[in-house]
Amino acid sequence: MSSATVRAPAKVNLCLGVGPVRADGYHPLATVYQAVDLHDELRAVARDDDLITVTMHSDIDLHAEAAAVPEDDDNLAVRAAKMLREATGVGGGVDLSIRKVIPVAGGMAGGSADAAAALVACNDVWGAGLSRAELESLAGRLGSDVPFLLHGGNAIGGGRGETISPVLARGSYHWVFAMAHEGLSTAAVYAEFDRLNDGDRIPEPTVPDALLAALRAGDPEALGAALSNDLTEAALSLRPELDDTLSIGIDAGALGAILSGSGPTALFLASDEQHSLDIAFALSSAAGCADVVQSRGPVAGARLS
Ligand code: C5P
Repeated sequence: MSSATVRAPAKVNLCLGVGPVRADGYHPLATVYQAVDLHDELRAVARDDDLITVTMHSDIDLHAEAAAVPEDDDNLAVRAAKMLREATGVGGGVDLSIRKVIPVAGGMAGGSADAAAALVACNDVWGAGLSRAELESLAGRLGSDVPFLLHGGNAIGGGRGETISPVLARGSYHWVFAMAHEGLSTAAVYAEFDRLNDGDRIPEPTVPDALLAALRAGDPEALGAALSNDLTEAALSLRPELDDTLSIGIDAGALGAILSGSGPTALFLASDEQHSLDIAFALSSAAGCADVVQSRGPVAGARLS
């Protein structure tokens, strides 16, 4: 039977500008994504019937939510496989098995990574022959972050996050991630954003010039100072203790500290490997941290391995 293995990265949002809620319930975003070296791995084995199955595996149980990822048709990887089959008319059944490393409900797009991985893997095992551009346009229907996780590297995200455009960027960055004990629902954080901003005039979001200049220059200090996230207030309102985690990283000398996407993962920029180790050490004893991970970015999008 034909088989394929795909590695898909997590993402961080270097800035996350959020506009007023749209009629469809989504929010317009102006973001810069970076794919980082924290990967889920998906293996796909073609079946000789029409069934699509999924099993989830995890070496570490970061969140109780990890156990709650559905192993049925609601799983984003299964939805991706079905969408590819319907869109191309090619393909039969497949057994998907996912080794999870990206925290579930952590603001790092772990579910979207699995969907991106399933698109690449099924395209290969079924011989569907879609180009990456064709896969990216299918991906947008699965979730706002899925097109970027196919793309990888650095990119500007517009629309509700699914419209990807290139950004001039240099350099490789050292990140430290502080994973929380319990995940946060993206939808709940956006709902809290709406509640906190009810009646306010929220401007259309833009990507800050200072962030684009820092990326063009490959300057970690300028990038650290330019990191921003409009969902911070909403996430901290739901999880006030995350403020302590951010403070610990800042006190340890991080060049910048923000929540990743809708949280609760906190991310810290370091100047080099040793600095990243120092920040990780300071965070490792923080009460709010379930785990601390050092990582690098940018890395490639979902790829056959
Ligand atoms: O697109 P995705 O499935 O990742 O979005 C998850 C949830 O996050 C949506 O159902 C919505 O509540 C919220 N969301 C939003 N605006 C966005 C992206 C996500 O309100 N731009």
